Amino acid sequence: MEQALPLEKKTVWKNLQEHKKRLEKINIIELFNNNPSRFKQCSIQQGEFLLDFSKNRIDEKALKELIKLADSCHLPAWMNQMKAGHNINHTERRSVFHIALRAPADQEMITDGRNVVPEIQQELNKMEQFVKKIHEGEWRGYSGRKITQVVNIGIGGSDLGPYLATQSLRPYWLKKVEMHFVSNLDGAQLALTLEGMDPETTLFIIASKSFATLETIYEAQTAREWFLEKAVEHEHIQHHFVALSSNVQKATEFGIAADNIFRMWDWVGGRYSLWSSIGLSIALTIGMDNFRSILAGAHEMDKHFFEADFRHNIPVILALLGIWYRNFFDYNTQAILPYDSLLHLLPSYLQQLDMESNGKHIKRNGASANYATGPIIWGETGSNGQHAFFQFLHQSDTVVPVDFIASINTHYPLRDHQSLLFSNLIAQSEALMKGRNLDEVLESLSPDSPDYDHQQLIARYRTFRGNTPSNTLLINKLTPHNFGALLAMYEHKIFVQGVIWNINSFDQWGVELGKELASHLQRDLIHGLNVEGHDPSTTGLLKHYLKISEPS
Ligand code: F6P
Repeated sequence: MEQALPLEKKTVWKNLQEHKKRLEKINIIELFNNNPSRFKQCSIQQGEFLLDFSKNRIDEKALKELIKLADSCHLPAWMNQMKAGHNINHTERRSVFHIALRAPADQEMITDGRNVVPEIQQELNKMEQFVKKIHEGEWRGYSGRKITQVVNIGIGGSDLGPYLATQSLRPYWLKKVEMHFVSNLDGAQLALTLEGMDPETTLFIIASKSFATLETIYEAQTAREWFLEKAVEHEHIQHHFVALSSNVQKATEFGIAADNIFRMWDWVGGRYSLWSSIGLSIALTIGMDNFRSILAGAHEMDKHFFEADFRHNIPVILALLGIWYRNFFDYNTQAILPYDSLLHLLPSYLQQLDMESNGKHIKRNGASANYATGPIIWGETGSNGQHAFFQFLHQSDTVVPVDFIASINTHYPLRDHQSLLFSNLIAQSEALMKGRNLDEVLESLSPDSPDYDHQQLIARYRTFRGNTPSNTLLINKLTPHNFGALLAMYEHKIFVQGVIWNINSFDQWGVELGKELASHLQRDLIHGLNVEGHDPSTTGLLKHYLKISEPS
């Protein structure tokens, strides 16, 4: 499906440049004034979601052209290829089939010539039995005691998705075990997690698709040492270590019993893996039924994505708006602002999902892209962010398109907290759009005020640029089902953008160079070897480190 013309040479691209010139002169508020039905036309209801994208610098004509752009990039064909399990991750020669992980048990999902749904269901059943054994205390540690603490050791996709899910779905915690997440290589995270824990009642989940990631394997080894200090016998490892991996051989070599290895498949990308056995920590925290609800919610979003026409398709519309701002308005960042503290890890999760997927400039045909690709993703919960960086959103000269996300009903209905929070969200999206000009500020001043002269002097400081675009996604309630749908929505958005930019969203070669260099450096540092031969800065830093570092 090679594109006949590079993106920037397509007529539709040039038409969009013209639309941008037209629309940059118009305020979003004028678009509302010109079209009383704008909110209705520019919002999509799907399941328990309402996406309002009316506060964007877009109109129906430009939107139509963006949809033409998607068609000209063969988006429908790419979607079919994904669904049909073709090797669309061409650099790794793999299909991209996380959608199969959440398909119903009676659906056929074929890749590499076989229906993978039965294997997936088998693995889910294995997870279910394991979760039941732990919850009911049937699974015992080596000394016969129940497991009360579980530590998930993993990084990137083997950490962020499960960690986000367990934090976001806190109201669903069964409290059968206490779940901990260790990802970072520093000793602090692991040491502090293990502080006060008892190896007799602790289970380690080693979550690594490759079972070769330096951080995870090193931490797993340290955890094993900590465990064996008390348990002594190697055979006890089988009662306290399980692996989630596609590399059964390496997991076995580590000492994990074959029965304790939960499989995943090559066609599950790390950042798309919480739907697989990588979700074991989620199931242990909220139960298997709730884990299955997450899968069902994601599947509902899959159906919407594959079936809804593009004009009414939430992931497609979000993707096209992202392209519109990145490529035509030259906005290079995107803020994710969940007004729900349960979703506090969503910005970090989406950073990996989006930036590891679309932070690339080599196209599928090996040539460089002559246009911008994935934006910088960042964000924070509201209303916290309002007291940190919203100043920048409102008054800097950098425009940042925003995704506001809120659940309408809270699990924690304290006094009027929820209405206050929601008013803040709406006020912010309104202020970002409307802004305030000098006349409005001056009009608001009272000449009778004793402070009138000073207020006149500072009037310009109180003006707001406005016209900042935002999407608002309202979710009825943050349930496991809706949580699954939310993540699937962003996955598909990112996929659509990758198709239009003609890049492979499913590899991550950009993480390799640092890994290679680190593997040489760590050997030199640990053994205090010769650190010459690097550039002067690197050698200088290494020498300084060796001089100051205390023996561990
Ligand atoms: O950062 C690179 C990466 O490969 C991610 O894509 C992945 O989620 C993470 O490392 C962890 O990989 P693994 O699950 O194989 O340990």
